[in-house]
Amino acid sequence: MTDRTIGYIVGSISSTSINRRLAKALERLAPEGTTLVEIPIADLPFFSVDIENDMPQPARAFKDAIDRVDGVIIVTPEYSRSIPGVLKNALDWAARPYGQGSFDGKPTAIIGTSGGGIATAAAQQHLKAILSHFNAPTLGQPEGYVQSTPGLFTDNGEVTSDETAAFLTAYLKAFVALIDRYVPVAAGV
Ligand SMILES: Cc1cc2nc3c(=O)[nH]c(=O)nc-3n(C[C@H](O)[C@H](O)[C@H](O)COP(=O)(O)O)c2cc1C
Repeated sequence: MTDRTIGYIVGSISSTSINRRLAKALERLAPEGTTLVEIPIADLPFFSVDIENDMPQPARAFKDAIDRVDGVIIVTPEYSRSIPGVLKNALDWAARPYGQGSFDGKPTAIIGTSGGGIATAAAQQHLKAILSHFNAPTLGQPEGYVQSTPGLFTDNGEVTSDETAAFLTAYLKAFVALIDRYVPVAAGV
């Protein structure tokens, strides 16, 4: 059995984040041979070019954590029809120093949940543009638009809807297939 590690970034630092619950659900539903680990962003300072060359330890740790995993899932809320500032800040750290972008060639998938009818689709479009600029191979289908309803996910990531659980399982399977195309070591080639 092939072992793969997928890192996930939650684009919310809220203590009651529904996107964190979604991430926990993905963790629980990971296929055999695949482990999901969080890549935290809450300790990152605001990015500034003043400090990028003497990179603060949390930023170094963040970039190292992306280097260690076979792929990254970004689980994002939608704020003001875009991604939250905390996530953009993390992505700016990942982009730097120039020429050392952490997402270059890194298989990446996007998913997010909100109560709104378009379920973070606007935020995800902005995120796709950023990841394209980063040269990250990004999962195109299935698209991860998850409309939240009260109680859909428990705090520890149980999914109360069979339909949503089946969708998340299929989403993970598709992402693992993408990783195996781009990461020959993970595929055992
Ligand atoms: C500043 C702010 C802006 C928001 N903008 C949107 C939005 O554009 N679209 C949307 O569907 N929900 C929006 N929401 C509602 C969020 O989807 C909701 O707060 C959600 O719980 C945030 O995700 P989280 O719980 O994982 O932090 C916004 C919430 C905040 C606090």
